[in-house]
Amino acid sequence: MDDLAPTATPPDPAQIEAFAGRLGQALNDAALVQMCSIGHRTGLFDTLARLPPSTSVRIATAAALDERYVREWLAALVTARVVSYDPHEQTYALPAAHAACLTRAATPNNIAVTCQMMPLMGAMEDRIIDRFRHGGGTCYHEYPRFHEVMAEDSGQTIVAGLFDGVLPLVDGLQPRLQAGIDVLDAGCGRGHALMAMAARYPRSRFAGCDLCEDAIEWATDESRRRGLQNLRFEVRDLSDFTSPSAFDFITTFDAVHDQKDPAGLLAGIARSLRPGGVYLMQDIAGSSHLERNLDHPFGTFIYTVSCMHCMPVSLGQGGAGLGTMWGEELAVRMLHDAGFPSVERRLRAEDPLNVYFVARI
Ligand SMILES: C[S@@+](CC[C@H](N)C(=O)[O-])C[C@H]1O[C@@H](n2cnc3c(N)ncnc32)[C@H](O)[C@@H]1O
Repeated sequence: MDDLAPTATPPDPAQIEAFAGRLGQALNDAALVQMCSIGHRTGLFDTLARLPPSTSVRIATAAALDERYVREWLAALVTARVVSYDPHEQTYALPAAHAACLTRAATPNNIAVTCQMMPLMGAMEDRIIDRFRHGGGTCYHEYPRFHEVMAEDSGQTIVAGLFDGVLPLVDGLQPRLQAGIDVLDAGCGRGHALMAMAARYPRSRFAGCDLCEDAIEWATDESRRRGLQNLRFEVRDLSDFTSPSAFDFITTFDAVHDQKDPAGLLAGIARSLRPGGVYLMQDIAGSSHLERNLDHPFGTFIYTVSCMHCMPVSLGQGGAGLGTMWGEELAVRMLHDAGFPSVERRLRAEDPLNVYFVARI
């Protein structure tokens, strides 16, 4: 780091040029992320993927969108080398390898889903700058579309791999789910993971709790629509959560670090498990120590999501503001402190962003 420290001697012009170039590329990449979010939400990537090379008029017509906007969006994507362009025919095409990362058909590998996070956070910039100046936090409902985007994102990282990848991380769990046990998902959001489990294991009983009324309302409506009888949702602040010996299996999916009282929740989970019970905690993979995250493939993204969302929503509840990158070392320590002597760390090769802890009392 020494060569970057401020000195009396003027900086090396080559270093300035290299850094300015990097920032220029960052501007282009940030713009691309914005356009990927729009491409996903409008269905333009899906439309492009099923059309042969086509004019902007044909693409706009097929997507039922305004041609002038579509043409400008296409220009951004062509200059980003995401969409190919034939100037002679004035046609555009999405290469198959790019469609494999940007379309609904590519789920769970649709990176455009996660791109929605950046404009979502960007919409909060004025408020977050105010908190930089005056302190304090934010509320979930201030973030436009938060639960919708979160559910879509965890739909790819968790739900799509639930039965083949996630639940098998807990030895012997699936036969117990088949036989019939009590399950809680704490901080369940829109409850997709629970709904999938409730449909798959009709003999088990499932409960989901979350602070946010709108998410629980959505989950309740959707589970009714799916005719699930073994599932209930409840609006509940989990800060003082405890439900002694009520559950055999408890999960949290990305739902500890932005709580008001993460330590209290973990202790409540430990108390709420029956003998032989197990807690599966999914959270963000990374270290509690900044210097160990320098080569983290998503370090800047995760710390940014933390600064714009996860930390302020915890602070906004009067909470600890642990931050998204509270890290695995602290997570393990807190699990032990909460009453889990046995904590196993598990990774899924297809999901480099997340880490899983299997904790038993
Ligand atoms: C990052 S989201 C994850 C949602 C869901 N588990 C998923 O994977 O899609 C974190 C969730 O924790 C919930 N949460 C935060 N603080 C809470 C609290 N004090 N009590 C209950 N839920 C809380 C939020 O409302 C939000 O739905």
